[in-house]
This record gives sequence, C-alpha cells and structure tokens, in this order.
Amino acid sequence: MTSGMIETQLLTADKAGIAQAAKLLRTGALVSFPTETVYGLGANARNDTAVARIFDAKGRPHFNPLIVHLPSVAAAHDIALFDDLADRLATAFWPGPLTLVLPLKPNTGLSPLVSAGFDTIALRVPEHALAQQVLAAAGVPVAAPSANPSGRISPTKAGHVMDGLSGRIEAVLDGGPCGVGVESTIVGFANGQAVLLRPGGLPVEALEACLGTPLTVHASEDIVAPGQLASHYAPDAPVRLNAETLRDGERLLGFGPVQADLNLSPSGDLVEAAANLFHHLHALDAGGDAPIAVSPIPNHGLGRAINDRLRRAAAPRG
Ligand code: TXA
Ligand code: MG
Repeated sequence: MTSGMIETQLLTADKAGIAQAAKLLRTGALVSFPTETVYGLGANARNDTAVARIFDAKGRPHFNPLIVHLPSVAAAHDIALFDDLADRLATAFWPGPLTLVLPLKPNTGLSPLVSAGFDTIALRVPEHALAQQVLAAAGVPVAAPSANPSGRISPTKAGHVMDGLSGRIEAVLDGGPCGVGVESTIVGFANGQAVLLRPGGLPVEALEACLGTPLTVHASEDIVAPGQLASHYAPDAPVRLNAETLRDGERLLGFGPVQADLNLSPSGDLVEAAANLFHHLHALDAGGDAPIAVSPIPNHGLGRAINDRLRRAAAPRG
C-alpha cells in the first residue's frame, strides 16, 4: 500500500456514521474522529500496516510513539500495568483529557510501531461521546495522534482535518468543534512519582490536587530522545547502514529485491518496510550477535522516519 490519493469519506455523527467509522478502523483503514481535545487520526493499534500509514499520511519524519485510545479503564488494564498512583489518576480523570504512560504488558498484540519500540505505552480514555461510541464499536485499541500533517496546527474541526489530510485517509467522522481544543496532558511515572511529560487539556493544578503533591516536570522530548533510555529499542549487535554489499559474518536487513536474512519490503514499499521495521529488528536481535548490515533505504516518504530510526539504532552506544 502506498500513499496514493484515496477518496476521503466525510461521515456524519449518527448511528450509520459511527458504525462505518468503527468498521473501517477494525479493518485497517485510517479514520479521523473527534475527541474532547483535538481530532485524532485513528488506526487499529494491532495492525502494523495501518499504524505505519498514520506516519505516512502525516508525513512524520520520526516514529514518535502514539497514544492508544480505549473506551474504558477496564480495557486500559488489559494493555498496561497500573500501580496505585496510576489507578488513582485513572479513576479521577478518565474518561478525560489525560494520557498516562505506563509499562506495557506482554502479548497485547499491539504493533511495536505504536510504542516506537519502547516498553511503555501511552493510554487515554477520551470523554467525547462520539469517540466513546466509535471505540466501543471498533472493539480494538486505536492508536491516534492529532489528525494534522506533521508540523501543522492540530485540528479542532472536521474541516481542518479535510484541509490537511483529504486524499490520504479513508474517512473523517464529523463531530463538530472540539471542546477542549488542546491535546491531552501526558503523565508518566518514575521512581514511584508522577512526572508531567506534556502540559495539555487537563490542568496541572487538578493533577496536583488529586495527588496531594507537586508534579515533577520532564519534557517528553528528552524521554523520547535516541539512546537515552535503555528501554528504547536498539539491537545489541552493531548496525551498519547503506550497505550495498555484505561483509563477512554480517546479516542483511534488506530492502528491495535483494537476498537478505530478513527483508523490510522485497517490493520496495516504504509503508510495508515501516510496518516490519521493529519486528525485524527484534527478530535479528534475538537471532544472535553477528553484525547487522542494512540495505540503502530511499529517504522520502516513510523512508525518512525509517532512516531516522535506523541511524539511532546504529549510533555508538554508551
Ligand atoms: O489529545 C491528545 O492527546 C491527542 C488526541 C487525538 O487524543 N493525541 C495526541 O497524540 O496528541 P500525539 O501523537 O500528538 O502525541 C503523542 C505524544 C508523543 O509525541 C510523546 O510525546 C508522548 O505522546 N508519548 C507517547 N508514548 C510515549 C511513551 N511511551 N513515552 C513517553 N512519551 C510518550
Ligand atoms: Mg500532534
């Protein structure tokens, strides 16, 4: 699948529109839906290709981790581990404009692209009635960044989404303007304390009142930065990029029509390559310590994000 033009359906906020949005999401299509903060660009978080297409549609140059949207606190418990502190915040503020970054449970079936290879996951239970209904009807976790092209302003109306992404996604569910208008507040946890990763629609004062303590502030960019965290995935074996030929003892992570140990996309499809990237890196890591050579990958479309991620994997380790 490539980023060729598709016809974007504008769905109305009625039973049929909600059912269609849910069906499209379940089957791997991209659907923008309203939340109380901003419009999200949703994809089935268990579908590697659908998640890869989010990055393609937005023109994102990096695989930043995405927020997974769920209809209920119970559904969130199936995906992540909550300690007492996390439970307290979830009980107080979900559904609502709060995202919690928590340890990811094993075997959830989520695409590794959603967490960008981290072993934590960002979760949110939105309050918007349409979001609630779509998520419940879809019956799958939905990964959703804001539904704007990368570097542009977040959309708070269906028209904004159409302006930015029409022709690149299957549908937009029109729920009118978003009430909050800024993205959710993101809270992570470190050393048994809540940490503010991104200020947003839920006031910090409300969080502090609930916790009874001030929040530590930590820019999320620092956490997401390359190689800063042991949990940020890079294979143990050395990685060599832009390998035109294979050296002795190397394993090849291929792209395009080459003989390779694992191939990101034999046909040279960048969306397919993105969908396979973390799976193949994990598999190569589990398969031994021999150095990994990577075929050249064109630096356009999702190739930019793939190359960005591979450069981080290849960077010297501390
Ligand atoms: O209001 C919102 O939060 C909107 C609506 C659609 O829900 N969504 C949104 O998603 O703003 P997005 O992709 O623009 O923001 C995701 C951000 C990442 O850039 C990162 O800062 C943080 O969430 N994040 C996600 N997963 C993380 C993780 N495992 N560790 C640290 N930060 C994480
Ligand atoms: Mg955004």
